[in-house]
Amino acid sequence: MSNLSKLLNQKTPIWFMRQAGRYLPEYKEIRKKERNFLNLCFNPDLAAEISLQPIKRFGFDFIILFCDILVIPYALGKKVDFKEKLGPILEKTKNVKEFKSLNYEISMEKLSPVMETIKKIKKQKPEINLIGFCGGPFTVLTYMIEGGTSKNHLLVKQKIKEDREDFKNLIKIITNLSIKYLESQIISGANIVKVFESWAGLLDERDYEDFIIKPNKKIQENLKKKFPSIPIIFFPRNSGYNIFAFIKNIDCDILSLDKEFPKELLNLAKEKKITLQGNLDPQILIEGGKKLEDEVKKIMIEFSNYDHIFNLSHGILPITPIKNVEKTIEIVRNFNEAKKSY
Ligand code: CP3
Repeated sequence: MSNLSKLLNQKTPIWFMRQAGRYLPEYKEIRKKERNFLNLCFNPDLAAEISLQPIKRFGFDFIILFCDILVIPYALGKKVDFKEKLGPILEKTKNVKEFKSLNYEISMEKLSPVMETIKKIKKQKPEINLIGFCGGPFTVLTYMIEGGTSKNHLLVKQKIKEDREDFKNLIKIITNLSIKYLESQIISGANIVKVFESWAGLLDERDYEDFIIKPNKKIQENLKKKFPSIPIIFFPRNSGYNIFAFIKNIDCDILSLDKEFPKELLNLAKEKKITLQGNLDPQILIEGGKKLEDEVKKIMIEFSNYDHIFNLSHGILPITPIKNVEKTIEIVRNFNEAKKSY
């Protein structure tokens, strides 16, 4: 954490969720040549190149590994495909019996190209902190059960209602593999790791405790036992007031925030020495102009008394103009200059 604390004392660092992706012409160029998205995630040369594209173009303060949260279902033996315009399509998971012959070593072997990507990135840019990641176990399971992105998550809700124990066991499998996966990313060179629990907002209090807090806590405790100095970023998106139970139960280093969050969180985070990350709306980044400038300044002022990493409230969208990304970085950096001379 010392490295990060030093950085935070000097300035507000900036990076964007999904900073490597389809808004970049140089990404689209590579994507044209490799039509199969998972092949791209598992190609260490290309994945390392893509991870570094936003660093070369904009000089972001962190690199995030180029990969996807859905490599976990693939490593568990499920078919995973990414279709243009449709998004991910997965072979549906029904129950835990499907994993009775699961062997974690074989799963980790399937994920080994990701470790090669990490080593390549660190070799090329050893001086910049690299963020490794995985999906939150509940979020990954929603994709496995629904067979892709879903609007109403009916199959997930039905499964929780009818077969809660089995649902818990499926989460356990994903959690165990995710811990091994993140450990391996850290050993390969990741300096920080992030858990993307993008669908945390679907659950009421009781389910939130069982399916969000417990698995995320297990990941946190296992990683901290082995790697106490590696910061973990949690992103339990759309948690609303459940966020208080989250930070009460899980010792977070960094909490990634949505557009909306309860304002009492600010002082509580300070008390608990949690760094806050966020929270520019990706839609405003698309709009640009004065609205963007005002919003970036507003965020910089709102978080000026707290440890803060500037970021979006969700992933950058494909139609985002490059110049708006440049403008945002410029405003954040100008604030930093003012902070230094203060
Ligand atoms: O942040 C980064 O730049 C690192 C790479 C990264 C990707 N996906 C690349 C990607 C990360 C961290 C993710 C996380 C991810 N993937 C999440 C959690 C964050 C979130 O957005 O809520 C989720 C839910 C996924 C699953 C996923 N992957 C979906 C639903 C889709 C389709 C929708 C879309 O945005 O295209 C993907 C595909 C995906 N993952 C792309 C990229 C660059 C686009 C694929 C393409 O090039 O066609």
